[in-house]
Amino acid sequence: MSGSVSKGQGVFKIALSRAVFRGKLTALMRQVKLGIIGGGTVGGGVYEALRRNGALMALRLGVGLEIVRVAVRDLKKNRSARIPRALLTADWREVVCDPEVHLVVELIGGTTVAREVVLAALRLGKPVVTANKALLSAHGKELFAAAQKHGTNLYYEASVAGGIPIIKALREGFVGNRITALYGIVNGTCNYILTRMKLEGADFDAVLADAQRLGYAETPPDLDIDGHDAAHKTGILASLAHGFWVNPKTVCVEGIRHISALDIKFAGDLGYTIKLLGMVKKMGPAGRVQVSVYPTLVPNAHVLASVNGVFNAVFVRGDIAGDALFYGRGAGRDATASAVLSDLADAALDLKFGTKHRLPPFVPHQRSGAVAPIEEVVSQYFVRLNVVDRPGVLARIATLFGQLNIGISSVIQPEGHEGKSVPLIFMLHYATHGAVRKALARIARLPAVKARPVMLRVESFE
Ligand code: NAP
Ligand code: HSE
Repeated sequence: MSGSVSKGQGVFKIALSRAVFRGKLTALMRQVKLGIIGGGTVGGGVYEALRRNGALMALRLGVGLEIVRVAVRDLKKNRSARIPRALLTADWREVVCDPEVHLVVELIGGTTVAREVVLAALRLGKPVVTANKALLSAHGKELFAAAQKHGTNLYYEASVAGGIPIIKALREGFVGNRITALYGIVNGTCNYILTRMKLEGADFDAVLADAQRLGYAETPPDLDIDGHDAAHKTGILASLAHGFWVNPKTVCVEGIRHISALDIKFAGDLGYTIKLLGMVKKMGPAGRVQVSVYPTLVPNAHVLASVNGVFNAVFVRGDIAGDALFYGRGAGRDATASAVLSDLADAALDLKFGTKHRLPPFVPHQRSGAVAPIEEVVSQYFVRLNVVDRPGVLARIATLFGQLNIGISSVIQPEGHEGKSVPLIFMLHYATHGAVRKALARIARLPAVKARPVMLRVESFE
């Protein structure tokens, strides 16, 4: 049986038959040969990490890992990783189809070429390690099905929360639990920006530039700051936790572009820290789940409020284990490389012992599973308005909230903001997102309201 890879209009015939590849594996001896697609931040990090700890891993695993080919886009580029020129090629197909390559590592990002790379490798029966959450979010169902069909495996520990082994924890450590809630600070770039804005009063754009320089941000960084990267990761965690592959289009996503220094300060005065929080919560018995990502007010007393900088944390509530917290670096070269190494170890052992399905990468088992529409999700809220400071305005706004059955738990008009218009902060009781959105649309139309209302959810972690 032989595989094929499309290349432009024509078809690039793969010389390697799967039978020959399997023959190579039985003669595997003690060395698994890797082909890496992508030699940037993460690819370079994996190369350097294996140089440093490859011998140690070989001792621990009883099998060595050797990088034999690396595909990049630009052969002339200066690289911080010391990848020998002789390993480089600008054609990923050469790497995937090389009969010497047992295991393919996809580290280019994006969803088009990356999908081709992963499918081509899986069709050859070669296991694939990827850090690409955008790819999994968009095409996970297809890729896991391809891995199963071709009797191989897809490993993706590095796709969520950098150096934190959260995929393994959910698949293995929590296998005996129903996950009733999961909260994640899963985007290092956003957490780095929000932390520096809060602690240093730093400017959004300047901190984002630092995050890019440090290799935390995606290309383009809009994926981070508009919440999509966190949504891809939260969707992957939700899928693992609830047994149906979450369609990214059903996830409610809001980023951090609109978070101002004023909101960070007022939230702080009220005892909260603003975090971009991924949430996966069981809603009732019918398999419906809240899956969302939005900036959230976290009580300062909660452990997630003190997860700062590029660090990520995932808080998991299992029906048997209770609460557990996973904390670590969420982005950057070495943290991500560490997660890739962990997958390489699993993949190498699976190859060595021929246990391709020791642990299936993802098993759909929840037929009635569905993401609940965000309009039905209930939470508490922080609302900041900018209003003309005159009698009757507060009463009018309170009436509009009351008409939609939304209770106000407190109102604050911070001092020191005297002028034509002043900030007015409302903390609201539990209400559906739909009701609050409707009330704010009405409130925004009042002549006394001078700017678009800011609405942030407040999480109590109950
Ligand atoms: P990056 O620094 O931009 O590196 C991408 C690499 O892919 C570069 O070496 C590039 O080649 C190569 N490449 C792009 N298109 C290619 C093609 N068609 N053929 C061959 N090579 C190609 O990106 P990164 O930060 O390493 O991210 C890689 C993946 O890891 C992404 O999926 C990302 O979401 C994920 N990830 C990143 C982090 C992080 O902290 N950076 C953390 C977790 C997961 P050139 O070098 O020649 O341009
Ligand atoms: N851009 C991502 C982040 C990289 O900032 O979290 C890690 O997945």
